Amino acid sequence: MKFFIDTANLAQIKEAQDLGVLDGVTTNPSLMAKEGITGHENVINHYKAICEIADGDVSAEVIATDFENMVKEGEVLAALNPKIVVKVPMIREGIKAIKYFSSKGIKTNCTLVFSAGQALLAAKAGATYVSPFIGRLDDISTDGLALIEDIRLIYDNYGYETQILAASVRHPMHIIECAKLGSDVITGPLSAIVALMKHPLTDIGLAQFLADHAKAAEK
Ligand code: E4P
Repeated sequence: MKFFIDTANLAQIKEAQDLGVLDGVTTNPSLMAKEGITGHENVINHYKAICEIADGDVSAEVIATDFENMVKEGEVLAALNPKIVVKVPMIREGIKAIKYFSSKGIKTNCTLVFSAGQALLAAKAGATYVSPFIGRLDDISTDGLALIEDIRLIYDNYGYETQILAASVRHPMHIIECAKLGSDVITGPLSAIVALMKHPLTDIGLAQFLADHAKAAEK
């Protein structure tokens, strides 16, 4: 299972990369804005900086919503670095753009997916990744994990190679449940990834080991 970090914050990306378990990065226009990254030149430079830090795929989202400009933007983004995955919203023009990018060998991430039908269309168009937003579904009292289960079933039925990238992950249980359901990738905040390692018995056990070791050394 691949772990992506969902942020445009360079320090957090570096921290996750240094942990040794990072497989990629996802960003979106809101995450870029949160870091104060505005203007074409700054956005481009920021993607380049992310690619320098992270080892795996880096999703960079197009802003255009019409086919022609999505293609223009996506081609510029893809040319920045082979790690770049062009992130395209699940809309009619987006499906056309994903089909186009796929025919040109450009990696894509179909974003803002909230239903199995949308995920099926993304796979048919040849998306490299599909991003179901499980946290945002949970937020409206709809089972986000059930969507992961449905997409896994559909993709396996037909052998679609589009990778399920569970997005909008909020906490460690989302990651564990996604792993049980066979999601290929999760993307979430560093806090959710780091929380996986915490267990009180680990802390108590380690404290005991170190205390016993120190006592024995005194003898
Ligand atoms: C996915 O790629 C999105 O950037 C992201 O996971 C959205 O998460 P949010 O619902 O926490 O904003």
